[in-house]
Amino acid sequence: MIYLINTRQDMINQKILITGAAGFIGSSLADDLLAKGFSIMGIDNFDSFYTRDIKETNISNALKHNLYSFQEGDIRDMEFLNSCFSGFRPDIVIHLAAKAGVRPSIKNPASYYDVNVNGTLNMLEAMRKNKIGRMLFASSSSVYGNNKKIPFAESDNVDFPVSPYAASKKACELLCHTYHHLFDMDIFCLRFFTVYGPRQRPDLAINKFTRALLNDEPITLFGDGSTSRDYTHISDILQGIGQAMENLKGFGIFNLGESNAISLKELVALLENSTGKKADIKYLPMQDGDVLRTFADISRAKSVLGYNPVVNIADGISNYVEWVRVNNRNF
Ligand SMILES: NC(=O)c1ccc[n+]([C@@H]2O[C@H](COP(=O)([O-])OP(=O)(O)OC[C@H]3O[C@@H](n4cnc5c(N)ncnc54)[C@H](O)[C@@H]3O)[C@@H](O)[C@H]2O)c1
Repeated sequence: MIYLINTRQDMINQKILITGAAGFIGSSLADDLLAKGFSIMGIDNFDSFYTRDIKETNISNALKHNLYSFQEGDIRDMEFLNSCFSGFRPDIVIHLAAKAGVRPSIKNPASYYDVNVNGTLNMLEAMRKNKIGRMLFASSSSVYGNNKKIPFAESDNVDFPVSPYAASKKACELLCHTYHHLFDMDIFCLRFFTVYGPRQRPDLAINKFTRALLNDEPITLFGDGSTSRDYTHISDILQGIGQAMENLKGFGIFNLGESNAISLKELVALLENSTGKKADIKYLPMQDGDVLRTFADISRAKSVLGYNPVVNIADGISNYVEWVRVNNRNF
């Protein structure tokens, strides 16, 4: 499962430090960059949001690669970060480590702030101290809250987040801009729109629904099924990250989505089609913190980065269900 996107030859020998490297996006990115010839240091603390087993499986191939090193540790630990930065001296830091997930952030906002905001501040400080000046930061479509204007553009007001998770991502974007301004760091904030595909996090709808369907269990829909999302395939996210690495200069915020939203009901229909099963749907009220819709305006990423997402949702879902089956991931 490696997505090879063309990369400029002069970048190939660069050293890339990835935080959150054992997670869904981080481990997929590490495999992709290793296959292109980059040297990678991965950092992760195996946060208990989901099981260590899944994360260890995610990095099992990378660990065999001679251009890969992995350090288990916490981005809130400055001594740990200093030793990683001073030893490895990355050309670019790709900061993906975070407590992800909207709903749990309402139950435990302090821990979300601690990891996401203090952790990001620590990263920026460690970079400044070690004279490392280039970073991509994983932001989120959730910063748009319940904005009415569709599609969401980077120039829209994002002062009204509706979950602590979203607020923490917005706070991180502000810190990124501050460090760019004060210390001339090159930083791009990439707003990912619901990412799916092989290794997707177990708390996310596509993963949960697929497992339920394959195991003949009911699925729970929050709301009436009309909420909609712009689902982005992991290979398109990796394409966008690669292009952001090549164009990283100054400060920028970019939406990375497919620019095509579908409703929850339409999503279930696609999953039924790919699994060959009929969903037994239990409806529950919408959850606090959930947004009604997401839909990315990707014209900035297209024109500045050359981003061009290509995986339509029907193909992406059928490819994902196949991956779950082949890898026995329906547990
Ligand atoms: N998956 C999506 O749909 C999506 C959408 C928008 C934004 N994002 C952002 O992209 C990034 C990656 O998301 P993902 O879906 O791969 O999540 P993930 O949970 O699979 O990966 C995050 C990784 O960060 C690690 N981590 C957590 N706290 C840490 C700490 N204190 N120190 C070191 N490592 C720590 C976790 O162990 C995990 O492996 C996150 O910042 C997330 O907020 C994801």
